Amino acid sequence: MDDIEQELEQIQTEPELAVFHKNYLSKTGKLTMMLAGLKDMLAEQRAEAGKRLNELKRKIEIKFFQKQAALRAKAVNEKLKQDPLIDITIPAINQTQGSLHPITLITRRITEICRSMGFLVVDGNEVVSEFENFDAVNIPSDHPARDMQDTFWLTNGKLLKTQTSAMQNEILKKYGPVVSAIFPGRCYRNEATDARHEFAFFQCEGMMVGKDISIANLIYVLKTILSEVYGKEINVRLRPGFFPFVEPGFEYDASCPFCNGTGKGCNVCKGSGWIELGGCGMIHSNVLEMAGVDSKQYQGFAFGFGLTRLAMMQYAINDVRLLNSGNLEFLRGIKR
Ligand code: PHE
Repeated sequence: MDDIEQELEQIQTEPELAVFHKNYLSKTGKLTMMLAGLKDMLAEQRAEAGKRLNELKRKIEIKFFQKQAALRAKAVNEKLKQDPLIDITIPAINQTQGSLHPITLITRRITEICRSMGFLVVDGNEVVSEFENFDAVNIPSDHPARDMQDTFWLTNGKLLKTQTSAMQNEILKKYGPVVSAIFPGRCYRNEATDARHEFAFFQCEGMMVGKDISIANLIYVLKTILSEVYGKEINVRLRPGFFPFVEPGFEYDASCPFCNGTGKGCNVCKGSGWIELGGCGMIHSNVLEMAGVDSKQYQGFAFGFGLTRLAMMQYAINDVRLLNSGNLEFLRGIKR
């Protein structure tokens, strides 16, 4: 039996190997025939002989395949060496390295800043329950605020989250009552698509809950994040605004980083010097209580903004649809 192994080891070419296969491993090969011959043996000998033969055949087969792969690689390499038209050492033509998507870049920038300020970065689901997206953030089923967010409902009763606020309850339950977290995520709303609206877009939300957390802290955090993002001092102003999950609630604007708040000839802020960014406020006591946080002892703020919008401003993208288009020319044109 060692002879078969030796014979296999000495083989140097693919045709020789094919002959070996025919002689031993094919349907009419010796090893196959010997296995077939087992049936004529006495029962007590058959078991032992069958085991040995099967083991041998498997061993030979493995060596055969290894040899086959090695010979094939050798043949290909030799062919490449001989062929004057193929030089495998020349680098590929037009080979460019991939790069990060504008949304990824802005998300990473913001999460890096927040992490350095001690915030947890939480990655949420895109499919959430009705409770998480609405009830838990103080939007019960009869609340008109549900109508403002045209929702993609799934057949299993769940939905595609319409806002990152859908994460608040889970985060408070898991990490509360003292927690600082930032949670970027893709959100969905069933709306007609145009240059400024997409049914899938990114938001980023932040939250800080603890003892003695105030609106002053909120303004400081917003100002710090934005100033870091733009590498210059950014001012933040709050205006009264309504969101069912904050009380008091605000809309907030950032001083325009592109004209330094002057508004002069600026088409990003349309001459106003301010850019509307999103909503914020002190987390409603109902929201805290629904997550098991004692609202008498703890309070906190939440803020949200459109990551997609931020990326569009940062990289001067004038059509939101480009971001989901997979258009490589557009992506290559982004000045990072
Ligand atoms: N979830 C709100 C929206 O989608 C934004 C927001 C977040 C407002 C947190 C207040 C606090 O518009």
